[in-house]
Amino acid sequence: MEDRLATGSHDLPVSAALAASMTRDWAPPRPPAPARLPVAAHAARRRAALSERFPGERLVLPAGTPKARSNDCDYRYRPHTAYAHLTGDTAADTGPGAVLVLEPSASGHDAVLYRRPPSARGDDGFFRDRRDGEFWVGPREPLAVTESRLGIDCAPRGDLAGALRAGGPARVLRGADPDVDAAVPVKDPELDRELAAAAAELRLVKDAWELAELQSAVDHTSRGFTEVAAALPGLVARPRGERWVEGTFDRVARAEGNGTGYDTIAASGAHACVLHWTRNDGVLRMGDMLLLDAGVETDTLYTADVTRTLPVSGWFTPRQRQVYDLVYHAQEAGLAAVRPGRSFREFHIAAMRVIAEGLEEWGVLRSAEEALESGTYRRYTLCSSGHMLGMDVHDCAKARASQYLDGVLRPGHVLTVEPGLYLQPDDLTLPPELRGIGVRIEDDVVVTETGARLMSAGLPRHPAEIEAWMGGLA
Ligand code: GLY
Ligand code: MN
Ligand code: MN
Repeated sequence: MEDRLATGSHDLPVSAALAASMTRDWAPPRPPAPARLPVAAHAARRRAALSERFPGERLVLPAGTPKARSNDCDYRYRPHTAYAHLTGDTAADTGPGAVLVLEPSASGHDAVLYRRPPSARGDDGFFRDRRDGEFWVGPREPLAVTESRLGIDCAPRGDLAGALRAGGPARVLRGADPDVDAAVPVKDPELDRELAAAAAELRLVKDAWELAELQSAVDHTSRGFTEVAAALPGLVARPRGERWVEGTFDRVARAEGNGTGYDTIAASGAHACVLHWTRNDGVLRMGDMLLLDAGVETDTLYTADVTRTLPVSGWFTPRQRQVYDLVYHAQEAGLAAVRPGRSFREFHIAAMRVIAEGLEEWGVLRSAEEALESGTYRRYTLCSSGHMLGMDVHDCAKARASQYLDGVLRPGHVLTVEPGLYLQPDDLTLPPELRGIGVRIEDDVVVTETGARLMSAGLPRHPAEIEAWMGGLA
């Protein structure tokens, strides 16, 4: 038998008769009458703002290509956040690999969205191409439908290379699409970095439509937490109970939204001291706490980011309550500092002062003042107490420091406030009875004209409320 070259796929060969049969006798496509999406007007405004930043320059923003998991299997596709924000396209109906090009024009820029058209039934790619063929991945809407839904002119992706060759130099959002990166040689990396920063900064202030999407993400997330809390009694002592927690939350995320906005952290007992515990292979024990950090991403690609630390039994032990109370008071101080006009760093500083003073009171720190000065208090809390939240869980990360980390809070900013204490089980500086306790409380908050609104207020946070809530679910 001939030893054929392995192709990385197990598909059967296509006979000439099958190929002939497959390209005949299909009903003509009947595109639905498309309505303009509500996001379209917002995306147009965002493109206009980007256009103003870079007059006369071509801007290229790819949605990105699928990332291979192994051989012919890819990770689930999600378009680049900047692309999705500037187009309103989630790629659900258009498929992967689109590219937004903003061509300079007399009035600013003209937007063209290059995307793969539907597979024509006369072209056998529709059943042979397992990555893009519609028999494999489902239908893509016609370009005219995308134009109507998004209000952006569309062109076939095959025309992109020629379009990029013509005309002058361009700024490119790098690292998303290797073909685009290769087609437009880097002139000065700083020019491309400025484009990435500008796209991130456009997302700092959320508009009313985005705030509604984020609220929806938070509401779905609250339902996920409630499902987990209700399931907890049945998960005690099960092998890999943390995975059951993850599965319970992720089922809600996938059923009600696009999925989770980041890998769910289900950390019981001392696993809660690992800041990003996603292994989730531990057992839930009566008397321990479960730290659940999870967020639902909406179909429009906005995510929540919420953490609750729950007593598995439904009741905090006095020691757990001691740690929880300190984190709670730190979070209260942090939330009180989220106000328009305050510096972004202020809420973190306020929360950390409460943590350090509490640790001094417990005798863990000799002097809160000294520990705050030297940074040594961070041994017990380490990570920063919050970040911008939006389409990315750590949203706007490419924004310039002057606009974000060293900037000032403005109405429409959405951020997390998430102080924690992570008292490592092997930390000899701690009294033995505190070792192995980890608590984080994380909420999502929007800055308003006059203060701030807690978007995740629907989920109990105060320890007594948590006990009452869990008791009611049991
Ligand atoms: N879940 C990641 C974070 O809280 O930042
Ligand atoms: Mn967070
Ligand atoms: Mn989180």
